[in-house]
Amino acid sequence: MLSEQILEVKNLKKYFDVGPRQVLKAVDDISFSIKRGSTLGLVGESGCGKTTVGRTLVSLYEADGGEIIFDGKDIMSANKKELKQLTRRMQMIYQDPYASLNPFFTVGEIISEGLIIHKIGANKKERMEIVYELLELVGLHREHANRFPHEFSGGQRQRVGIARSLAVEPEFIVCDEAISALDVSIQAQIVNLLVDFQDKMGLTYLFIAHDLSMVRYISDRTAVMYLGKLVELGDGDEVYSHPVHPYTQGLLSAVPIADPRRERSHKVQLLEGEVQSPINPKPGCRFFKRCPKATGICSEVTPELIDVGSGHMAACHNID
Ligand SMILES: Nc1ncnc2c1ncn2[C@@H]1O[C@H](COP(=O)(O)OP(=O)(O)OP(=O)(O)O)[C@@H](O)[C@H]1O
Ligand SMILES: [Mg+2]
Repeated sequence: MLSEQILEVKNLKKYFDVGPRQVLKAVDDISFSIKRGSTLGLVGESGCGKTTVGRTLVSLYEADGGEIIFDGKDIMSANKKELKQLTRRMQMIYQDPYASLNPFFTVGEIISEGLIIHKIGANKKERMEIVYELLELVGLHREHANRFPHEFSGGQRQRVGIARSLAVEPEFIVCDEAISALDVSIQAQIVNLLVDFQDKMGLTYLFIAHDLSMVRYISDRTAVMYLGKLVELGDGDEVYSHPVHPYTQGLLSAVPIADPRRERSHKVQLLEGEVQSPINPKPGCRFFKRCPKATGICSEVTPELIDVGSGHMAACHNID
């Protein structure tokens, strides 16, 4: 039976040793789940740990603690063979398709790589047929298979990146700033392509982005991260229309409003103050030095992510 939650993440930790007794807690005890066929948006300032979450989920990094349950199976206790089968079903699309596509390989070779690793297609001819199909699926042409990455535009390269990830028929894809480097009009094309594939193939996405309006458009739920912690998580428009965490409120107030009349009266609540270091973080809320609502407890006790009403979660001691 298919489990409703394709992914369940419990108390996930990913630490980096960055010097003698210097531990950088890039992802520090976070929990969330993603429903099959839905999109979870993940936002937060640069360096807060979004990419590290994505890379740990798809096993590009080994977690330092917690559990990653994919389709009911615990990834961390899987053996090598099971892990290979599980990771085929989880793919990643990167921000910079140029850096992630090997410049010495043709697009056909790049897309075939996963097919070879996972023994999809009996021979080269069969694999090339799959490559042609994939190229057409992402809006490119079969002739593009013989070209090299530098012969494409940024948007086309991202289509190649998507074709490569789809080649192994994944169920879950981490889109890490997949559209951030593209022009606005091309961004919309790529997002629509991703939405289209989601509808047709029942894909599940973790959609990481800086651009909050794009995340709002594509996501069924949104998670907000701050220095290795999840600070807010909610369904649909909840996080945008009723942000409860002071950090989310600050993050959203920096987003321009499309309506000029409302924009004029819109107060930008700047995120001021010192960002704490993720190296050997002290107990307490990591946002407290920048938080307009901080009280004594905030510097001492780390707030837990709790339900503040109908599944809307936040980690703050001072929610009104
Ligand atoms: N391989 C690594 N070794 C040491 N530190 C790392 C490594 N990868 C990431 N970090 C650190 O972990 C923290 C989180 O980085 P990460 O790349 O996950 O952030 P991000 O939210 O994706 O940022 P951005 O929005 O800029 O992409 C940062 O402080 C970063 O310097
Ligand atoms: Mg990143």
